[in-house]
Amino acid sequence: MFKKIAVIGAGIMGHGIAEIVALNGYVVFLCDVSEEILQEATKKIVWSLRKMAEKGKLSEEDLTSTLNRIKTTTSLAEAVKDSELIIEAVPESLELKRELFSKIDRMARPEAILGTNTSSLPISEIAAVTSRPDKVLGIHFFNPPVIMPLVEIVCGDKTSRQTLDSILNFVKTLGKQVVVCKKDVPGFIVNRILEALIQEAAWMVHRGEASILEVDSAVKYRAKLPMGLFELSDYVGIDILYSAGKAIQDRDKGVIVSPLFEEYYKNGWYGRKSGKGFYAYSGGLWERPKIPPELADNVDLKEIFASAVNAAAWLLRNDVVEKEDLDKAVILGLNFPEGILRMADRWGIDVIVQVLRTKQLKYGEYYNPDPLLENMVANNKLGVKTHRGFYEYTQ
Ligand code: 3HC
Repeated sequence: MFKKIAVIGAGIMGHGIAEIVALNGYVVFLCDVSEEILQEATKKIVWSLRKMAEKGKLSEEDLTSTLNRIKTTTSLAEAVKDSELIIEAVPESLELKRELFSKIDRMARPEAILGTNTSSLPISEIAAVTSRPDKVLGIHFFNPPVIMPLVEIVCGDKTSRQTLDSILNFVKTLGKQVVVCKKDVPGFIVNRILEALIQEAAWMVHRGEASILEVDSAVKYRAKLPMGLFELSDYVGIDILYSAGKAIQDRDKGVIVSPLFEEYYKNGWYGRKSGKGFYAYSGGLWERPKIPPELADNVDLKEIFASAVNAAAWLLRNDVVEKEDLDKAVILGLNFPEGILRMADRWGIDVIVQVLRTKQLKYGEYYNPDPLLENMVANNKLGVKTHRGFYEYTQ
């Protein structure tokens, strides 16, 4: 197993990845371009470990030893040299990641595995700039990495079985569960669904069909997701979701980024980290916006979720993931109370297709129902009501 691990990029994801890795006994070199960024990252790690200690989940001794295992550095060479695993978590730019991987490849031991935490960019194109594409893969954590139970693993065209096995073992040692995305498709599993969902909510607000508070109230109190979709966007970062959405849009139009996101991104209203996003923040490390429960009935959940069900059907039809893993991915990666395929079965596949067709007539071909959904309707696999949908149901 690995003894030394490097995490490159100490932002929202990078600091959390370094924390969970150190918590599980590994020595971590956390690297970024400035001391200020590293100090900010350390402050967040200390806050998070203290929270766990306050709740009795971590002893003072373990808190100290975890912190001692995290070494910060602005020298890429120092972080990478002697590391057996290097996890990159820099901003979502293919150019930036390719440049970095080319450098890391030259500095790292020949046997080191290089992982990227990208949420949407092509693993094979990142791996192609290295001399070891068999040792490159996607290791996608979810925010906050220390709490969210899932890691999504994505192989590139050339990732070897041996590399995959080592990383599956490693992820287990972090106490996380894994879903393997079988194909290097834009957005992989979780972000393809999440982006379809969040962008649809943003389109609805842009079109005047619902307000931000109405969407968030319905999603939180009726669909019972842990956060409203705009609340979650602020939490993850509007800049991050914008870039991930654009990356999917540019590659295969699996999502179309809404003008609302474009506006917030261009104005630098990134969410919690910039003090303003869809909600306002005062700078605390854990702030939740107030979402009034009484607005929950003002919007139909199927209007918000239909595009995400369509994205899920696309993933199944293209053999990117099995249905059980797809539902596991949203339950563990996004803390959904149930799988999205189960939700669709409950709502009725014919109802979802009808919602998509209505949107298609008004807004165009992005809403074409996936052929998998059309086939299900043609074969009377409508979900719970006909006892057959994505799953089988007994009387
Ligand atoms: N470390 C330690 N403690 C933390 C923490 C952290 N990083 N973050 C939050 N906490 C603490 C809070 O301080 C709070 O403690 P308190 O009770 O003492 O105030 C507690 O955890 C959270 O309690 P709450 O009741 O306020 O919050 P929730 O029950 O809603 O749980 C959550 C918080 C687990 C974050 C939940 O809201 C959630 O699951 N949200 C959705 C997260 C999600 O979907 N993540 C994935 C996004 S997509 C992604 O990351 C991919 C990327 O590529 C885009």
